[in-house]
Amino acid sequence: MKAAVVQSFGNVRVIDVPEPVFGDYEALVDIIAVGVCSGTDNHLVSGTHFKSVSLPFILGHEGIGRVVKVGKKVKHFKTGDLVTRVLNRLPKGSGFSLYHGAFAERGIVGDALAMKNAGLPEHVWKPFAINKVLPKNFDPIPSTMIITWRETFAFFSRMNPSRGETLIIIGSGGTALSFADHARNLGLAFCVVGSTDKASLFKKAGAASFVSYKNKNISEALRRSECRGADIIIDAVGNDETLNAILPLLSDGGRVGVYGLNSYNNYRIAPNGKDFTYFDGTHYDEASAHEKIISYMKKGALDPWRYLSKKHIYPLEKIEDALRASRERKVIKSVVVI
Ligand SMILES: NC(=O)c1ccc[n+]([C@@H]2O[C@H](COP(=O)([O-])OP(=O)(O)OC[C@H]3O[C@@H](n4cnc5c(N)ncnc54)[C@H](OP(=O)(O)O)[C@@H]3O)[C@@H](O)[C@H]2O)c1
Repeated sequence: MKAAVVQSFGNVRVIDVPEPVFGDYEALVDIIAVGVCSGTDNHLVSGTHFKSVSLPFILGHEGIGRVVKVGKKVKHFKTGDLVTRVLNRLPKGSGFSLYHGAFAERGIVGDALAMKNAGLPEHVWKPFAINKVLPKNFDPIPSTMIITWRETFAFFSRMNPSRGETLIIIGSGGTALSFADHARNLGLAFCVVGSTDKASLFKKAGAASFVSYKNKNISEALRRSECRGADIIIDAVGNDETLNAILPLLSDGGRVGVYGLNSYNNYRIAPNGKDFTYFDGTHYDEASAHEKIISYMKKGALDPWRYLSKKHIYPLEKIEDALRASRERKVIKSVVVI
């Protein structure tokens, strides 16, 4: 099958790779649409991601597909089901590693519940809990957003946000916009520190104020806005300088979440006497957010087309264009169709 492979850093090519293999509790999937994660995918291609992956590897961790064959112990998927967060597994000795590996013609999903009910250990079934069947009428392209929304909602929920609290979001990409949508849906007031060309997008999402991250005195600009203080700050970029500039606005005993991973291994918070709880961006239970996100989508409380654009949907052969469009901020999230 064809797949998008990073052969050397900076170089992604669509080449032939072996067909996936799937076990008794797994299903084979025809992959239909895969979202580009502007930060993670571009970091992986350029070799600047904080986790190392050995070359050559198959990219793609936001895949939606349709089940075409099921293993003999699968109970909760059937042929024709539209499924989320497709993974991959190539035969032993294929020579390819995977970063989920969804930029490919085919992939696999696992029946976590059947594995769990059969008494398999948690470390075996848990990685497949993100594989879920989607409602029949869902369109695969906008459904790629489910992954970002589940991840951000699961992370935000860990921080125990409450109606009436105030949140400051650092960032103006897809993850920042997701936190904005979740905050609005949960009844929090929020302000955003980001790139001014995204101000109207965030105002439409309900931001009380928007401050440029290039402002020389961000905390003063926020103090003059609707966000004189904050119960929660989420850094959806991974820039400690911006977080440290805003930290004085956090209430005592507040919460700080660093979801953006841009400088994960070198991130330094200067508390300056501030007492707060820290939430690390690598911890959240994505699967736990699934039902909530589906219900928000059904109600129209999450709109995929504020993130995606019909102009930025690319065939697999044009994956480099899809990566470039998100890297150059031409669109919040581009999508590759297979
Ligand atoms: N924890 C997780 O599981 C997880 C999952 C997905 C993504 N991420 C991480 O989340 C981060 C953001 O990804 P994304 O796709 O949402 O965004 P993105 O496409 O990388 O865009 C970042 C946005 O934030 C703006 N920005 C840059 N520096 C800023 C700063 N210091 N303060 C405020 N805004 C700033 C950018 O403006 P300019 O155009 O001026 O640069 C741009 O609008 C990445 O590090 C990614 O790896 C983490």
